[in-house]
Amino acid sequence: ELHPLPPLTSDFLYVLDRVCEQCYRDFAPDELELSIRELILQQLETFVRRQFAGKLQLFGSSKNGFGFKKSDLDICMVLEGQESIDDVDCIKIIESLARCLKKNPGLRNILPITTAKVPIVKFYHISTSLEGDISLYNTLALHNTHLLASYAAIDRRVKILCYVMKVFAKMCDIGDASRGSLSSYAYTLMVLFFLQQRNPPVIPVLQEIYFGRKKPEVLVDGWNVYFFDDLKPSHWPHHGKNTESIGELWLGLLRFYTEDFDFKEHVVSIRQQARLTTFSKQWTSKYIVIEDPFDLNHNLGAGLSRKMTNFIMKAFINGRTVFGTPFQVLPSIYPSHME
Ligand code: CTP
Ligand code: MG
Repeated sequence: ELHPLPPLTSDFLYVLDRVCEQCYRDFAPDELELSIRELILQQLETFVRRQFAGKLQLFGSSKNGFGFKKSDLDICMVLEGQESIDDVDCIKIIESLARCLKKNPGLRNILPITTAKVPIVKFYHISTSLEGDISLYNTLALHNTHLLASYAAIDRRVKILCYVMKVFAKMCDIGDASRGSLSSYAYTLMVLFFLQQRNPPVIPVLQEIYFGRKKPEVLVDGWNVYFFDDLKPSHWPHHGKNTESIGELWLGLLRFYTEDFDFKEHVVSIRQQARLTTFSKQWTSKYIVIEDPFDLNHNLGAGLSRKMTNFIMKAFINGRTVFGTPFQVLPSIYPSHME
């Protein structure tokens, strides 16, 4: 099913690079847009504090370095003086939080969702037209947000490739977990894994850097969330060795997941350099297996049907052909739902 690709000319690689850079420029929020998010957070916290001793925190793509202008506001609330929460209380608080938010004239479409694995209140922020949701004690998500942000800070190519991947997933309609495909978070993990496995690697495995000492243990919800978050070039032997352009890496990624990576045998796992087998995880019934870097029982591909898996793999195969074949005229517009 895979056609051989023609040899790549330097002209074509230049065009590929430009397309990737353009994608980043078109979709990344600027400083102002990021500070507006912080402002909304502050206003919401002030409002919520009429009724709850709550602290609100942004996470997800508002904070991890891979946000779009229109990405949702992912907010986590914790109650002061309370370490954790049980499922029953969580649902009660989500329901009363929803009642509280309904009184805020700046918001619309308040909807508590208590049946999900992570109960949330959804809302729509009228003046910015941003959607958002508030979850409770979503502590692991705060840590994986910080992990992704640390990777984004290492090399500009990381950031751009993750944007290109997210735009690609949205354009191919394979990037919405609530509709049976994979989340943005899952695609970001796929990009990071590819960059770690590249030869020479573009990024290290931050969870494996601890300078010969015993790996530190920082337990959250029973999982070790340790990673090295102060990466300086001298801390990493491969620093600067990979000099590939963004375009080369993007096509490299599409080729990696269509030609090299054996989904049947291996897990996409960014917590270790060594290959992890689907067999060792007992995750052999699914074709696309992506391990969460902290919650090691969480396979982000667990919800994929066979049909959706095929649809996603076909998108990658088509992407490889489209981006791997030189063309004369650049497509100048995105589909209307991307604007
Ligand atoms: N998350 C998670 N496990 C999942 C899905 C999401 O831990 N299965 C966490 C991640 O920290 C993720 C955040 O929830 O970054 C928000 O998820 P989502 O809004 O789906 O993705 P974003 O990364 O925010 O990307 P987008 O720009 O599409 O909103
Ligand atoms: Mg989000």
